[in-house]
Amino acid sequence: MGSIDWSNLSFGYVKTDHNIRTYYRDGQWGDLEVSSSEQITMHMAATCLHYGQEAFEGLKAFMGKDGKIRIFRMRENALRLQSSCKGILMQELPIEIFEEAVVKAVQANKRFVPPYGSGASLYIRPLLIGTGPQVGVKPADEFLFVIFVTPVGPYFKEGFQPTAYAILRDFDRAAPHGTGTIKTGGNYAASLVAGEIAHSKGYSAVLYLDAKEKKYIDECGPANFFGIKDNTYITPFSESILPSITNKSLMVLAEEMGLKVERRKVLVEELSTFEEAGACGTAAVISPVLRVDDLDKGTSYIISKDGKPGAICTKLYKKLQAIQLGDEADSHQWVTIV
Ligand code: PLP
Ligand code: COI
Repeated sequence: MGSIDWSNLSFGYVKTDHNIRTYYRDGQWGDLEVSSSEQITMHMAATCLHYGQEAFEGLKAFMGKDGKIRIFRMRENALRLQSSCKGILMQELPIEIFEEAVVKAVQANKRFVPPYGSGASLYIRPLLIGTGPQVGVKPADEFLFVIFVTPVGPYFKEGFQPTAYAILRDFDRAAPHGTGTIKTGGNYAASLVAGEIAHSKGYSAVLYLDAKEKKYIDECGPANFFGIKDNTYITPFSESILPSITNKSLMVLAEEMGLKVERRKVLVEELSTFEEAGACGTAAVISPVLRVDDLDKGTSYIISKDGKPGAICTKLYKKLQAIQLGDEADSHQWVTIV
């Protein structure tokens, strides 16, 4: 594999040894297969290609100081994939098969799990796609589930450093009763133009508002949003955001640290009252917010006055990481040791 510079990895694709696959055909899921090919072949009329019948997941494995590999909350990803399947009429994958495939994918690529202390991790990407052919807009009758893994560093190149986010009022990523709550590719296709505009202007990501009223905060491009004030962790309630497993975990940790936790509608203007804020997700971990610029209104909300991560974001980040790495006891049974 050449030598990987573990401490300087970005969030990109690195070829690993094996991926795991199973096909749904004739009304049942087949056995898990180990493949060393990076290619998949399918019918040119496969529903994933034409009608976006596809969903994916993202989770991570970490190398501990004790040499053990830990996978974080994979059951939650299995359940969310089932919810995505329900949302776009794909065959649901049983939880046990999902979990077995994740463990197999990690085991088959152990040498790519970044070492303890490098700050990097092994990103696990499950994908479920409609492979059966259709010309009319109908669900497929055949599906492929595949998992590949790739070692990654931070999603935003700054890592755990505050960066700026942009509100672009002319773009929505998901409608209130659309597919925002599931992890289907169309949501990400819908976010590409706004994402590129934000990046070209030097922002980490777009901070999306609710599509209907444009009054409330939804989420950041690839992550949920939270704000901190008055010893309270506040995160948007919305019908068009992905239920983040990281956010769910942070809410538990925040409560244990003695913070109040509120999941409710968050007005854009409330940004001016936050002492700290962050984007949170598997890839983003916690990415502290420096500033939010509402570009069409010309308003700027400075969150980090000194340009540094806030004390509560830092505490949450360290606590989450300690559990993932096995430095602290896994009192919630969030971790699976491979
Ligand atoms: N929101 C969106 C749109 C995402 O793509 C992700 C990434 O999975 C998240 C939030 C964070 O979710 P999680 O913490 O489960 O990774
Ligand atoms: C993740 O955090 O796992 C994501 O899926 C975010 C992004 C890479 C789409």
